[in-house]
Amino acid sequence: MSFALESLPLRCPLDQHSLESLFDQQALTCPQCHRVVPIQNGIPRFVEDAHLESFGTQWTRYDVAHEQEDRRTFEAKTGFRRDELKGKRVLDAGCGGGRYTRLVAAAGGYVSAVDHTRAVDKAVELCRDESANNSEQIQFLQADLKNLPFAPASFDYVFSIGVMHHDEETRAVFNAVARLVKPGGYYSVWLYRRNQEWQEKINNWLRCRTTTMPQERLEKWSRRGAILGRIPLLNRVANKVVNFSSHPNHENRVCDTFDWYAPQYQHHHTIAELLDWYESAGFHNLEVLPPEKTGYLYNWAYDKDLIIGSGVNVRGQRPVD
Ligand SMILES: C[S@@+](CC[C@H](N)C(=O)[O-])C[C@H]1O[C@@H](n2cnc3c(N)ncnc32)[C@H](O)[C@@H]1O
Repeated sequence: MSFALESLPLRCPLDQHSLESLFDQQALTCPQCHRVVPIQNGIPRFVEDAHLESFGTQWTRYDVAHEQEDRRTFEAKTGFRRDELKGKRVLDAGCGGGRYTRLVAAAGGYVSAVDHTRAVDKAVELCRDESANNSEQIQFLQADLKNLPFAPASFDYVFSIGVMHHDEETRAVFNAVARLVKPGGYYSVWLYRRNQEWQEKINNWLRCRTTTMPQERLEKWSRRGAILGRIPLLNRVANKVVNFSSHPNHENRVCDTFDWYAPQYQHHHTIAELLDWYESAGFHNLEVLPPEKTGYLYNWAYDKDLIIGSGVNVRGQRPVD
């Protein structure tokens, strides 16, 4: 199967020259700097997994996509309705295993799905039906969001769910991706919320240990955490102290727990910080998106920054000049 390599022209991230095909589509090259970008499994590979390696493991190992749930989460965390995506250029910035890429393509959007890791291979697999229906609709890349091979102002809708805080510097990723939004286009970002100081201290102490653990050992711990996540009450109280997932599906709980404790970087942010980044990048019509979960107790704890793993979530629009 061939994927839509040409659907959005690719440029050299270093000097912006148009990339040319090499060796009968086995690679891309820049006519200016002669950099060669290999294509494997139909996907241009601008980078390797690097410090995000645990995500390559996680997304290829666990099956956690659930269509109905993913639709609700997508709409809540982007503020986009699926019926407005038809025919639009959409960027899934940090697609992981492709659960949201798939539903944007199914809604008729032209989506570029980018991840730093081999998680893109899982995304290709998950999106196979959508790609087979229309091979021009999805373009997969293994690339760094800070150096994407696209012209500025290429996308009508850009979203990034749970991604940018895993870079050494979240704001550098935010700014690099912001430049890709067209005038009049929308940009939605979900980042981890900064919790109370005592929670941050416990989490930092734990993650100092878990991020240096061999992945197999951490997976065993994540499986134990997944059992705790099904014990009523415990999962409501204890997870205000230590993060573990209470998702109803066992595999999702293991994946979520591994996802929390494995990555090298995990920065937490405030809503004021994120709003300031949007304003400085020239966006307007800013909307703070509410959490997907509701209920009096949840909202109370959320407003007090007590929910570990909850987010700060904003959508903004680039003004038409
Ligand atoms: C927690 S996962 C979220 C994946 C997807 N958005 C979802 O919610 O299912 C974070 C993903 O972001 C990717 N990522 C983090 N920093 C990145 C960067 N600078 N460039 C590209 N991908 C990045 C990781 O490789 C990982 O797959």
